[in-house]
Amino acid sequence: MKKVLVTGGAGFIGANLVRQLLAAGYAVRVLDNFATGQRSYLDGLPIELVEGDILDRAVVETAVRHVSGVIHLAAQTSVPDSVANPLYDCQQNVLGTLNLLEACRQSGVPRFVFASSNAPLGRQLPPAHEEQAPLPISPYGASKLAGEGYCLAYHGSWGLGTIVLRFANLYGPFSGHTKGVVSLFYKAILANRPLTIYGDGQQTRDFIYVGDLCRAIQLGLESNISGELFQIATGMETTILELTEKIAAITRQSVQVNHAAERVGDIGQNYSAVSKAEKLLGWRPTTTLEAGLAQTWEWFLANR
Ligand SMILES: NC(=O)c1ccc[n+]([C@@H]2O[C@H](COP(=O)([O-])OP(=O)(O)OC[C@H]3O[C@@H](n4cnc5c(N)ncnc54)[C@H](O)[C@@H]3O)[C@@H](O)[C@H]2O)c1
Repeated sequence: MKKVLVTGGAGFIGANLVRQLLAAGYAVRVLDNFATGQRSYLDGLPIELVEGDILDRAVVETAVRHVSGVIHLAAQTSVPDSVANPLYDCQQNVLGTLNLLEACRQSGVPRFVFASSNAPLGRQLPPAHEEQAPLPISPYGASKLAGEGYCLAYHGSWGLGTIVLRFANLYGPFSGHTKGVVSLFYKAILANRPLTIYGDGQQTRDFIYVGDLCRAIQLGLESNISGELFQIATGMETTILELTEKIAAITRQSVQVNHAAERVGDIGQNYSAVSKAEKLLGWRPTTTLEAGLAQTWEWFLANR
């Protein structure tokens, strides 16, 4: 049985990915310090847990021992928090990633999948695609770009089988602790509070269901393509106002909206072209926004 390490396995994406990898027959080790992740998300799962920090070299060396691949999700994930504390963001996302890559190189781990985002691209005319020059506008975008750079450099210099996946905006089960817009909206509805929209609500995002993303991650893990970067998204653009309408329809609630000032580092129009992932990884998303939002709402209702 192949063993894989999932850093940040107790987080939103991790909790979904660990379940998928177990179902696919992998033995799974999780490295997490529970900074944002939830212990309850791992309850009852037959995994090996290494509780510790990706910045702790000894912990990381132990965590990568005898694994055939690493999926590196652990990170500081918030754009506003990176603006408030760029040094912390850099330590977590740059030094944390470098620590893992170095441990993988020394232990001869053949495969490394890095969770990146569209934030390295900054404000550019969409669709986001793999050929665009990165122009980050937030510390988070800069730290993810540095992480991408080190992943590609470890492939170029030592042949480590690294692959970079730039995730679009995720939503899905196990996102109760996150600050993603779908999670914030569902929590507000459950608490009978108005939804907060920053700016005019005409900003767009490419919302991808976490189950579709996890399939892409597994394909990235199992592929023999290395030193490459892929956009993982739906290719569809949805405004925050359209999302609000869909959520009102699914929850059958008449939602109230508060408009607040646009946030520093936020991007106006954002969606991604996904033809490279389709062509080289054989991946395409299959969950419609309506179906994914409905499944996510069921999870929020069951875990309120
Ligand atoms: N959710 C999204 O929309 C989205 C979009 C693009 C990219 N990403 C990336 O995907 C990855 C996972 O995001 P998520 O939404 O699941 O976030 P999350 O906060 O739910 O999960 C992150 C996990 O990493 C753990 N962690 C954080 N710092 C750690 C450290 N120093 N040592 C050990 N563990 C640590 C947390 O406890 C948590 O379990 C991140 O790298 C994020 O930047 C997420």
